[in-house]
Amino acid sequence: MVATRNPGKIREIRALLEGLGYEILSLDHYPPFPPVEERGETFRENALEKARAAARFTGEMALADDSGLEVDILDGAPGVKSARFGGEDISDAQRCELLLKKLEGVPLENRKARFRCVIALVTPRGEEYVVEGTCEGYIALKPKGGHGFGYDPVFYLPSYGRTMAQIPPEEKNKISHRAQALAKMKVILERLAGGRS
Ligand code: IMP
Repeated sequence: MVATRNPGKIREIRALLEGLGYEILSLDHYPPFPPVEERGETFRENALEKARAAARFTGEMALADDSGLEVDILDGAPGVKSARFGGEDISDAQRCELLLKKLEGVPLENRKARFRCVIALVTPRGEEYVVEGTCEGYIALKPKGGHGFGYDPVFYLPSYGRTMAQIPPEEKNKISHRAQALAKMKVILERLAGGRS
């Protein structure tokens, strides 16, 4: 099962893990289960904590992810706080504006950043696996593009000459931090599926 209620994440994970013989269920399939607070200092701690709680609660193999944006000149901020950077109640667009404000006057070459995604897998027997994917880029000088979500409009990909929000979703799904982490997790799940039969 996957410890999320985000239909986009479930769709992506189903597509990628198709054919391995796993039934992929989201948290919505189970009785209400208290949300795990993301209190960790690292993506790894948060992903593991969510996967452990979900495995304990459901008795199934549980996958959980945590992701965010790290900006080098801000010492890795917003990092694990990406989803609540600037407060819980502001929009994604406002969060992007706040980030641009913090980087005012900083030239593009010093705006290096990356998206990071950590995925944890915990089995009912308590075995734990953790993988990570990153996607390197720069914080753009202004927001551009309408695809994606979160910080995509201000995440500039030098190899495309565009922001993440200007490239089509199919393209993003090939290069994203999440896609890279999922590809690594697929190898582990294939191995575990082999061991089951
Ligand atoms: P979570 O992993 O669902 O907790 O998301 C963490 C936060 O990181 C999101 O709310 C976004 O602000 C940011 N984030 C994670 N992945 C992406 C992405 O692919 N594009 C843009 N923002 C992202």
